[in-house]
Amino acid sequence: MIPIKNILFLLSGASSFIIFYMGLVNYITAIESSTGWILLVFATIVAAGTLLSTVYISKSITKPIEKLAENMTEFSKTNKITNKKPINTNIKEIYELNKNFESMGEKVEKTISVQQEYVEKLKQIDKKKVEFSSMVSHELKTPLVPILGYAQMLQKQELMGKLNKQQIDAVDEIYSSAVKLQRLVGDILTTQKLDLGKLDFNQENIHIAELLNSIIKEFNPIAIEKKINIINKITKDEIIFSDKDRINQIFSNLIKNAMDFVEPKKGEIIIGADNDKEFIKFFVKDNGIGISESNQKEIFKKFYQIDTSTSRKRNGSGLGLAICKGIADGLGGNIWVESKEDVGTAFYFKIPKQPIKVNSKK
Ligand SMILES: Nc1ncnc2c1ncn2[C@@H]1O[C@H](COP(=O)(O)OP(=O)(O)OP(=O)(O)O)[C@@H](O)[C@H]1O
Ligand SMILES: [Mg+2]
Repeated sequence: MIPIKNILFLLSGASSFIIFYMGLVNYITAIESSTGWILLVFATIVAAGTLLSTVYISKSITKPIEKLAENMTEFSKTNKITNKKPINTNIKEIYELNKNFESMGEKVEKTISVQQEYVEKLKQIDKKKVEFSSMVSHELKTPLVPILGYAQMLQKQELMGKLNKQQIDAVDEIYSSAVKLQRLVGDILTTQKLDLGKLDFNQENIHIAELLNSIIKEFNPIAIEKKINIINKITKDEIIFSDKDRINQIFSNLIKNAMDFVEPKKGEIIIGADNDKEFIKFFVKDNGIGISESNQKEIFKKFYQIDTSTSRKRNGSGLGLAICKGIADGLGGNIWVESKEDVGTAFYFKIPKQPIKVNSKK
């Protein structure tokens, strides 16, 4: 970009030189020396006048325009008109331009500050809302402890007396509903902590082969009951430094989901881990109903559940995958899905092998 001042001086310099040069040529070639002198003096005065008027124009027009341009650049960077440099001009158009720019700037600055206030207020309200519901969920957890405890004591009939068949069914129902409620409250609390950036992580050495074996062990009884084959396909054992319980939580959510969407007897779930440079890439693959491309984009959002006949039969709140994503992100990794309808689904999540900076209780 060439500054307007340079163009002005270039033009006036060139024209002054041409005028003076023409005067000089006339002086040299004039038949009468007096006429030559007059023309030379005249040309010199005109050339000097051109240069002087350029200096004047530069001072009174280009300087304020330059300042105005600087003010505009500063305003576009900071959105603050108060930082402007004062512009003194007696040129009407520039004066009007500056005045309009200043009043427009003041309006924009005011609107932006009002908007920021609103955003700040909304953030505060949002935080209060999350804190309130977090408190409610916390309070809900407390009465669940005696409900579960007494239901378990009633189930063990030797402690509180014999129950008839109807009473046993009722107590079993109370117990399983309380367990579901406890899980839901736990999931809501975890999601809220994730939203507030308050979920804590503990990092420790993890033997991934051991971790996968313990997960398989945990899910084997239910897999046998549902006639689902659950396979461990770890390629190589490694030790990573991360949060064992949280990685376990991701696997649990993914395996529970997979179990719900595969067909009993034909169902197959493969879990495992691959080396991926400075990460370990864990996976849970199934040969279930699959997830359409449009739903793949949505399933990691809170409370999102796909409305299919299979889904409708399930319990659940649509928080499982949102929690998996929050944990994977919090541990410095990521999670994604690859799926084909009627073929199956594979969830992958990458976790760094080395320690990273996390929210920690310690
Ligand atoms: N392996 C899978 N195969 C097919 N669909 C799946 C699979 N995993 C998840 N989904 C779909 O993604 C939705 C969201 O899963 P998510 O785990 O977040 O919630 P949920 O299982 O319905 O409830 P929650 O986990 O909170 O009990 C599920 O409702 C289901 O429709
Ligand atoms: Mg789930």
